[in-house]
Amino acid sequence: MNTLPTSQTELVEGTAVDLDEVMATMHLAFDPAFGEAWTRSQCAGIMGLGGVWLLLARRDGQAAGFALSRGVLDEAELLLLAVQPDHRRFGIGRMLLDAVANEARSRGATRLHLEMRDGNPAAILYERAGFHEIGRRKRYYRGHDGSSFDAITLACRL
Ligand SMILES: CC(C)(COP(=O)(O)OP(=O)(O)OC[C@H]1O[C@@H](n2cnc3c(N)ncnc32)[C@H](O)[C@@H]1OP(=O)(O)O)[C@@H](O)C(=O)NCCC(=O)NCCS
Repeated sequence: MNTLPTSQTELVEGTAVDLDEVMATMHLAFDPAFGEAWTRSQCAGIMGLGGVWLLLARRDGQAAGFALSRGVLDEAELLLLAVQPDHRRFGIGRMLLDAVANEARSRGATRLHLEMRDGNPAAILYERAGFHEIGRRKRYYRGHDGSSFDAITLACRL
């Protein structure tokens, strides 16, 4: 992990007014080659639904990443996790993931699941956090050049 002892990361709860910050990180974090990023209207739509919560990560006061999640009864889903390239490998992704798991637990969830493109290096982060593969959707993601990529569903007991 990179270390810059002077840097401070804080996690704050976000709302729909933070959509600009979410979209700025979305554009920087997701490579259009893989078709994983959400549009602004997809984000705005889901943020209006019950059980959805947004966590923003700020590093030295600057937008660094976010996690968008949803809880329904005893199941929670991590919908999106993103950290801007300049802020990666400082532990922010793991910090967001742990905070999502804690919040999901406190909302009564017993399992957290997520969908990830096959081949995404984020798999290492998720494996280390206790996730395992429970399913696969063939050709779920479509990149900007038309190529398609499987989605892997991962889950972790809370
Ligand atoms: C995946 C992502 C959120 C990780 O964020 P991050 O802040 O860099 O993650 P962390 O620093 O907390 O990483 C924790 C550990 O996960 C593993 N890891 C994270 N990113 C990795 C990578 N690209 N390659 C290999 N291992 C990785 C490492 O074990 C790392 O520990 P280390 O740095 O001590 O080796 C970030 O790379 C990202 O935004 N990617 C694009 C969006 C995306 O694919 N999101 C996930 C799918 S929804």
